[in-house]
Amino acid sequence: MANKNGSEKVRGLEGVIALSSELSSIDGEEGKLVYRGYDIYDLAENASFEEVVYLLWNGDLPNQGELDALKRDLRAARELPEPVIDILRKVPDTAHPMAVLRTAVSALGLYDDEADADTPEANRRKATRLLARTPAIIAAYARLRDGKEPIAPLSEASMAFNFLYMLNGEEPGTAAEDTFDTCLVLHADHGLNASTFTSRVIGSTLSDMYSAVSGAIGALKGPLHGGANREVMRMLLDIDEKGADPVDYVNEKLENKERVMGFGHRVYRTMDPRAAILRDRVKALSEERGATKWYDYSMAILNTVKSEKGLDPNVDFFSASTYYMMGLDPDLFTPIFALSRSAGWTAHLLEQWEDNRLIRPRAAYVGKTGRTVTPISERA
Ligand code: SDX
Repeated sequence: MANKNGSEKVRGLEGVIALSSELSSIDGEEGKLVYRGYDIYDLAENASFEEVVYLLWNGDLPNQGELDALKRDLRAARELPEPVIDILRKVPDTAHPMAVLRTAVSALGLYDDEADADTPEANRRKATRLLARTPAIIAAYARLRDGKEPIAPLSEASMAFNFLYMLNGEEPGTAAEDTFDTCLVLHADHGLNASTFTSRVIGSTLSDMYSAVSGAIGALKGPLHGGANREVMRMLLDIDEKGADPVDYVNEKLENKERVMGFGHRVYRTMDPRAAILRDRVKALSEERGATKWYDYSMAILNTVKSEKGLDPNVDFFSASTYYMMGLDPDLFTPIFALSRSAGWTAHLLEQWEDNRLIRPRAAYVGKTGRTVTPISERA
């Protein structure tokens, strides 16, 4: 069905170029991801998450003074408003972790005097507050749910260090901090994925940053998007609990026409480079510990899905076992994804507002036509 301007309807907007962006580029054929001109392998190896945040927000990697200033701003902005902590105390234990994060981030906006201020400077300050507070929300929620009190961050430490410290109440080792920091770098931005597109649609109406990021969290929650990492770990744990053969387990899923979470991608037609980086990280972690179970299961599943369906793993497949081997609760996997992607969402909003135009596509109407109202007394 062609639109008035002759363009064809495209299901799921697959392959449709909706806008121009300088933030990140994905080459689906070659399996490449670039943030502002830097390849993801280079950034994962040689840049911290805070450096990548600066890069996404400002266009260049920071020098030492610029990085120190960003860290100072993030430290100054990270304390949670008490009423938001109260909300976290009251949410039902059965609440979905991403619904809790969506609610708390939305509530942050109620206690930000600049919530509806739409100058570039105010939006930059809000981006800093949102990014600084999201780790604290996730860690506080996780501890309160376990009947423990939230823990304040240690002043000079990195975001990666402080998230693990606020969550576990003990200082993480260098290896854990580095691994987690790399995970944050890998998840920071990824073109016009569903949650980023959601944030830009909301931003394009000139609504506020809290509304746009809350909407993005709602989109990321879905198992076809960021919610997949939690489902991947549930699958691995189910295999382990049943003592099942991973190959038989996943073949049964495929025979039942079920989706194997962590595989396939709308853009990548080869392995997601983030999956390759995390695969090697899980392999190294497993060999260091002499415990290769999750890696072995994952590789058996990977080889089966590749040979049976020709599908490659995406970032969610190996992030699951990476986080699990770090002792993180699968319930927190998608909130952690949101933590990192808050850098990308806010960067896209800043970019959207530099040259805004309302995002409003068309729908091809295929409903009934030419009907007239029958008085209700005469309707069957
Ligand atoms: C993320 O967009 C991004 O950039 C997202 C992300 C980011 O960083 O923001 O990269 C993060 O969301 C990664 C994706 C996480 N989701 C999952 O792992 C969920 C499982 N994967 C899928 O459901 C699927 O692959 C999608 C949603 C990711 C992409 O789906 P598409 O492009 O709409 O492809 P499709 O559903 O039309 O599938 C094409 C074919 C179908 O086969 P047929 O019906 O044509 O025979 O591939 C099959 C699908 O059945 N297929 C799968 C499959 N994914 C696709 N079959 C089994 N298992 C799968 N996982």
